[in-house]
Amino acid sequence: MAIRLGDEAPNFTAPTTEGEISFHEWKKDSWAVFFSHPKDFTPVCTTELGFTAKLKEEFAKRNAKAIALSVDSVEDHKAWSGDIEETQGCAVNFPIIADTDRSVASLYDMIHPNADNTLTVRSVFIIDPVNKVRLTLTYPASTGRNFNEILRVIDSLQLTDGHKVATPVNWNQGEDVIVSPGLSDDQATELFPTGFTTVKPYLRTTKQPS
Ligand code: BEZ
Repeated sequence: MAIRLGDEAPNFTAPTTEGEISFHEWKKDSWAVFFSHPKDFTPVCTTELGFTAKLKEEFAKRNAKAIALSVDSVEDHKAWSGDIEETQGCAVNFPIIADTDRSVASLYDMIHPNADNTLTVRSVFIIDPVNKVRLTLTYPASTGRNFNEILRVIDSLQLTDGHKVATPVNWNQGEDVIVSPGLSDDQATELFPTGFTTVKPYLRTTKQPS
């Protein structure tokens, strides 16, 4: 069954490039970006994993860790990692799951048979510190994902978990945010000392709380 927002991210144990991993134990109380790619030694995937490796510090700032998956073997993942470092200028610094029996892909519904019967699509799950699924994304094989967008979503989730705000279209860290529609004007006045702007009664903006 498909995994939905708010579900607990299913646990699993699997071989990876960093040895056998039990997912929840590996993740502990950090955020996780768990993503699948269709196949090792393919061009789009090479750019995606190289770019994700370059974001290691950005992930760390957000208490987040990346973990990738495809149905290829650990040996293939390791051999391909050499190509990723050579061509993308950064060594892979996160585990890649070798899901050769497709058990994890089935658990996370990463194989979409009408797209491809055997290979995983480009799925992304953002999972929070208490193992709740907070974002799901599915991209086709021919389209590389935007991993800056993944960071942007983590920023939004971390901000909106801590404050009664939502983030508007194309929001980025530091920009104005939306006052939660559930708040009355009186409550908003109390919560946002810098004030807020009423564009419409249901659309009120304020400075990003720190
Ligand atoms: C790629 O990563 O380039 C790719 C993988 C599978 C199908 C198409 C493209």
